[in-house]
Amino acid sequence: MTDTKDTAQEHGEHVPEKHDPFGGARTFVQTAAPALPELDQWQQIDQAELDIVEDMTRRNELSGGTPIVREFEQVWREWIGSKYAVTVVNGTSALYSAYFGLGIGPGDEVICPVNTWICTISPALLLGAKPVFCDIDPDTLLMDPEDVRAKITDKTRCICAVHLWGLVCDMDALTAIGREHGIPVVEDCSHAHGARYKGRMCGSIGDAACWSLQGSKAVSAGEGGVMTTDDTDVFERACLVGQVNRIAGIDLVGAKYEELQPLGLGMKFRAHPLGIGIAKVQLEKLPELNRKRRAYIEEVEAGLAGIPGLRPLTKYDGAEWGGFYGFPVIHDPAEMGGISTDAFIEAVNARGLHISKTPYPNLHTLPLFAKGFDIFTRNRGPLCEAEGYTGYQPNDFPNANHAMDRTIFLPRLSDPVPEAGRIVLDVLREMAAG
Ligand SMILES: Cc1ncc(COP(=O)(O)O)c(C=O)c1O
Repeated sequence: MTDTKDTAQEHGEHVPEKHDPFGGARTFVQTAAPALPELDQWQQIDQAELDIVEDMTRRNELSGGTPIVREFEQVWREWIGSKYAVTVVNGTSALYSAYFGLGIGPGDEVICPVNTWICTISPALLLGAKPVFCDIDPDTLLMDPEDVRAKITDKTRCICAVHLWGLVCDMDALTAIGREHGIPVVEDCSHAHGARYKGRMCGSIGDAACWSLQGSKAVSAGEGGVMTTDDTDVFERACLVGQVNRIAGIDLVGAKYEELQPLGLGMKFRAHPLGIGIAKVQLEKLPELNRKRRAYIEEVEAGLAGIPGLRPLTKYDGAEWGGFYGFPVIHDPAEMGGISTDAFIEAVNARGLHISKTPYPNLHTLPLFAKGFDIFTRNRGPLCEAEGYTGYQPNDFPNANHAMDRTIFLPRLSDPVPEAGRIVLDVLREMAAG
C-alpha cells in the first residue's frame, strides 16, 4: 500500500508545500499538484480559472442552475453524445443519481468490479441494494465479463462498468450481457474523461454514465460530478432526487413527475456553480492534457519492451485510454531475476522516482464488505446477516488479489519536461538490472 499522503494526493487533496502558481497570493487552492515537480511542469490551474470565478462571483452567479451550469451541461452532453446531462456535487452523488434514476432499491443487487474506489458502489448500498463484486482480468485490471455473467442472479438490477485509471472496459461484452438479461449498465467514467471505445465516447455506451470532477481528475471542479443518460425517466428521477428547487419546468422534461415539482424528493446534490465554471475551463483544456499524458505514457509503455519483468496492461480492441487517472503496469518478479515487486518499488523510490502499488484496497477485504454491517440499524440493510449477507473471504477474487500484488503505478506526468520519458525508463531499467 502507498502511504496516506500518497493516497490523499491521488485523490487530489491539497498538498500545500508543493506548488504555488500565484507566488504566494493565495487566491486559489490548487488541488492536484504535479506528480514530480522536477519531471512535470503541469499547472492545473491558471488565469482562466481565476477569471471565470471572478466573473461569476461579480455576477453573483453562485447558486442553482446558473447560465454557466446550464451551458456546461449542454456542452457536456453534446461532447459525450447523450440526450441529458446533470451536474452534481461530486462523482458519488452522480452515481447515486444514476442508481436512483434506474430504480435501484432494497432487494436489488448491483455488480461492480472488486478493485474499484468504494464510491462506485457505496451509493447503491445506501439505496438499500446489495453490492456484488466481480473479479477482474489481471492483464487489463478491468472487470471480467465472464465473472460478471457468473454473478448474475434474478435480483441483479445493474452492472457498473468502471473504466479504471482511464482504461476502457470490454463494453461490447458487458452491454451484450446486460441486454441478454435485461440489466442496465452504468459506466463509471470518473477516471476516464475523454476515453473512447470503438470510436464512441465512454459514457455514451451504457444506460447512464457518471464522472467525478474532484480536484485530481482530468476535468476538475474542485469538487463536482456529472451524470448523463439518454433515458428520459432516468434523467427525471435523477433530477427528482438531487435537484430540489433548481428551476421548475426546466429540469423535468415530461409530465410524469410534474406534480412533484419543484421540490422533488427534497434532496439536494446540486453542484456549486463556481466549481462548474472551473470545470468548464478545464474541459476546454482536456484535449491537450490527454494528448500530453497519452504521448508520455505511450513512450514509456513502448520502452518497457526493453525491460524484462515490466510490461504494459493489455487493452481491449477499440479501447482508447483517456483521462489517465493513473499509470499502472505489470511487474513479473520471475522475469526480473526474482526481484519481488515490493523490493523493486523500494529500489526505484530510493533512486528518487516515486512509484507505488495501487492506492485502492480490493473492496472485499474491507471489514464493511468482508464481515457486513448493520447499515440501517436493527438488523436491516443489504449487508446484514439477517438479510442473507454472507460476506467475503480473502481469496474470493484471486485475479484481483494477484493484480494487486504485481501492479505497479509509474509516475503519471501531465506536462512532462523534455526527456522525462527517457529519464523514467532509465531509472526503471537500471533498477530492474540491479
Ligand atoms: C472510480 C471512482 N468512482 C467514483 C468516485 C467518486 O467521485 P467523487 O470523489 O467525486 O465523489 C471516484 C473518486 O475518486 C472514483 O475514483
